[in-house]
Parts: sequence; C-alpha cells; structure tokens
Amino acid sequence: MTRLTILEYPDPRLRTRAAPVDRVDAPVCELVDDLFETMYGANGIGLAATQVNVHRRVLVTDVSGERSDPRVFINPEILARDGTATSQEGCLSVPGYFDDIERAERIRVRALGRDGAPFEEDLSGLLAICVQHEIDHLDGRLFVDYLSDLKRQRVRSRLEKDRRQRAEDQTTARARAPAI
Ligand code: NI
Repeated sequence: MTRLTILEYPDPRLRTRAAPVDRVDAPVCELVDDLFETMYGANGIGLAATQVNVHRRVLVTDVSGERSDPRVFINPEILARDGTATSQEGCLSVPGYFDDIERAERIRVRALGRDGAPFEEDLSGLLAICVQHEIDHLDGRLFVDYLSDLKRQRVRSRLEKDRRQRAEDQTTARARAPAI
C-alpha cells in the first residue's frame, strides 16, 4: 500500500470529471487500498480518487473515528435524496478550512464494492454527508463551491499564503541543516 499525495485547492486537476470503472480488477483494488492508506494517514473520513489525481469513479470512507468501518463505493450513484441537513464540513484538499454546508439528510446509493459486486444502501448521518461530498469530488466539485464567491476567494488566498509559508519554512530548515 502506498500513501499518495493529495491535491489541494485550487489545483485545476481537482476539476476533472472522473470516468466510470469498467471492471473491478487488481489495479482498482490496489487503488482502493492506496486510498485507505492515504485517507487514514491524513486522518480523513473520506477520500475520492480525484483527490490523488486518479480520475476513476472510486471513493472510500470510514466515519467511525476508529478505523473500524471502511467502506468502498465504486461507480457510486445517488438514487434518491430525502430531507436536508446542515453540517460543518472540511476537506483534505482544502486543509484547515471548515464551513457549514447543506446537503440531503438521507440518500439511497448504488455502487460496486471492492469485490465488484453491486449493492444498494440507504445512508444517513455523517456517512450520507461524506458520500455526497466524495461524489462531488468525482464530478470535479469541491465543498467550497457552495460558498459565496467572496468566501471562496478568501479561502483560496489563505491556502496560497499557507503554502508559501510552508515553502519558506522548508527553505529555512534546509539552510539550517548540517552539510555532510
Ligand atoms: Ni473532500
């Protein structure tokens, strides 16, 4: 298993619409395993393949908080939505930013599992929110797209500033490192 690099907003590759998976074969299973490794390594509760620059319709979740409920959704489709719920969301591709987003409270989803078998399931609570958020990624959409233009611009400026700061810190650390 490999921990992959997560793309960060406003990387244009996050806007790619992912293509359906034709067959759940060994490379797809390997992608699923890498997604879990990457998601757990970053302390996330969900990750879509788009976020690691693989544009296939695969997403994983684990909303248990203790790595005990790993879920795989390949070619996920939302068949029905019911109710609305507002909750605070964050995203591994938008580090350090959280905001209230309104989504369907309950969804019925159809997908393929890691074994390639189709299933349908009614989801609610955090898992329903998470799967909607991750399917948005597969369609090239981010949770910040639901914010006002002004707010989204602020998030973008802040992330760019953080990235510059991290780059400067790395340069300073290198300058201080002993030469051998
Ligand atoms: Ni996300």
